[in-house]
Amino acid sequence: MNSAIADAFRRQIIIELDSCYLYLQMALWLQEQALPGCANWMRKQAHEEVGHALILYCRLASRKANVEIGKISPPKREFATLEGCFAQFLEHEARVEESIEHILRLARHCRDDGAANLLEWFEAESAAREEEVDEILKRLKITNGKRGPALLDLDESLAEREFRLPEPLRKGA
Ligand SMILES: [Fe+2]
Repeated sequence: MNSAIADAFRRQIIIELDSCYLYLQMALWLQEQALPGCANWMRKQAHEEVGHALILYCRLASRKANVEIGKISPPKREFATLEGCFAQFLEHEARVEESIEHILRLARHCRDDGAANLLEWFEAESAAREEEVDEILKRLKITNGKRGPALLDLDESLAEREFRLPEPLRKGA
């Protein structure tokens, strides 16, 4: 494995685990707001982030690249509003996506098709998640900041999210 790609994968492992930390913190905050469905959705996302880190880790380990575990900083603990919390999720995902795109360009440049295929999966996953959160934000707008039936409906639907083992791990990435 090209050393620049291996380094980028190592950095991305930290970014994915950092996402996990942030989303776990968001889940705790959502739980404090008495929104167990929203908290469930965020916790499941945090769980998937661990999966994303593992995909990259397994790829490095299978290529005998030296996997160095980096430091994860503590995330922000307070979120002003529910909408603000999900908007921050979107902003964070956009930064993660930028990083993935950078590694994807690198993988294509180095003609590492295996790494490029994996990164294309990450891109598609991120786009699907952003679409989902866009929808959540639209539904939150309808609630007008009120704790009424529209918010409780949304919370109920987010309670249904289940953990899905990321596809590359199912295939034994
Ligand atoms: Fe991720």
